[in-house]
Amino acid sequence: MRQAGRHLPEYRELRGDTDVLTLCRTPELAAEIALLPVRRYDVDAAILFCDIMVPLAGIGLEVQIVKNQGPTVAEPFRDDRDLARLRPLEPEVDVPYVLETIKLLRKELRIPLIGFAGAPFTMASYLIEGGPSRDHVRTKALMHREPKTWDRLMSALGDLVLTFLRHQVEAGAQAVQLFDSWAGTLGPDDYERFVLPTSRRILAGLEDLEVPRIHFGVGTGELLALMRAAGADVVGVDWRTPIDVAWERIGPAAGVQGNLDPAACLGPWESVERKATDVLRKVGGRPGHVFNLGHGVLPETSPEILARLVDLVHERTARTATREDHA
Ligand code: CP3
Repeated sequence: MRQAGRHLPEYRELRGDTDVLTLCRTPELAAEIALLPVRRYDVDAAILFCDIMVPLAGIGLEVQIVKNQGPTVAEPFRDDRDLARLRPLEPEVDVPYVLETIKLLRKELRIPLIGFAGAPFTMASYLIEGGPSRDHVRTKALMHREPKTWDRLMSALGDLVLTFLRHQVEAGAQAVQLFDSWAGTLGPDDYERFVLPTSRRILAGLEDLEVPRIHFGVGTGELLALMRAAGADVVGVDWRTPIDVAWERIGPAAGVQGNLDPAACLGPWESVERKATDVLRKVGGRPGHVFNLGHGVLPETSPEILARLVDLVHERTARTATREDHA
């Protein structure tokens, strides 16, 4: 989750004034950026450097990623007529650089590479709002006023996301993460009616590729069981729900990823250690936990703190494994 972002001085240096979409379109640079956190930290997996808006830019929409703001869309979606602008994605033609970046990364990495895409609801929110939004009122208005248009929009974005993720796996991605970052803005009923069916179709459409499917959103405490029901092998949890409570909701058969508050990493080491230990204590050594932050690394985060955090998790979880070995 934007872990390669602004908290690393070497990222800021590499990036200079180049915008994010240009970085994504330049395989050598994108691969190098994805490797930066891997070189610094002893992490167990790497994430592709890309952005959720890349496939939309790839089919010709006028998308920008504005610094300190986020993605913007020049002509936001308003009604049925805009659906014609969502043509099918042909990854080899429209986003060949993403597939090339994955191939470059696989040559360099000795840890698994996670590919990703934005989920249809989260992408739709940028398309309809025209940029980041606090309450997603326009998105919800379209959903409730024009449910048929909404369903067609979800269907087109569902096709695009599924095609994109399948090509990422075929190019070498060893796990996929579907980011429905802003789904938590919905209550469970609307999530189930307007979002879940498309997410379910995408996740089911990946099943034969036999890679772990991670599904994540922010503020989704009340949606966790539904996100699992959508077909995720692993459900990502932000910091608002204690991880043991989250796992109860998700059920024992799925993995859980999370859930240290990224802001906790801004504190002194003693408090980071206490908070991280608390997450591990709540998990209690259950297999299937992927330790992670509950959302992206904040730009103000010190790399030294993250390096210590990664080492702490390795030490503590290795100890749990040893204890089990002797049990
Ligand atoms: O960890 C990584 O760096 C991997 C690459 C990655 C990026 N975006 C590159 C990026 C990933 C996994 C994303 C996903 C993404 N992008 C999501 C889903 C995950 C999440 O964070 O919830 C969303 C919602 C976006 C849309 C987006 N892109 C936002 C909201 C922003 C922040 C804008 C800002 O400046 O605050 C971006 C920009 C972005 N995408 C950056 C990176 C590294 C920051 C780039 C910079 O300013 O240098």
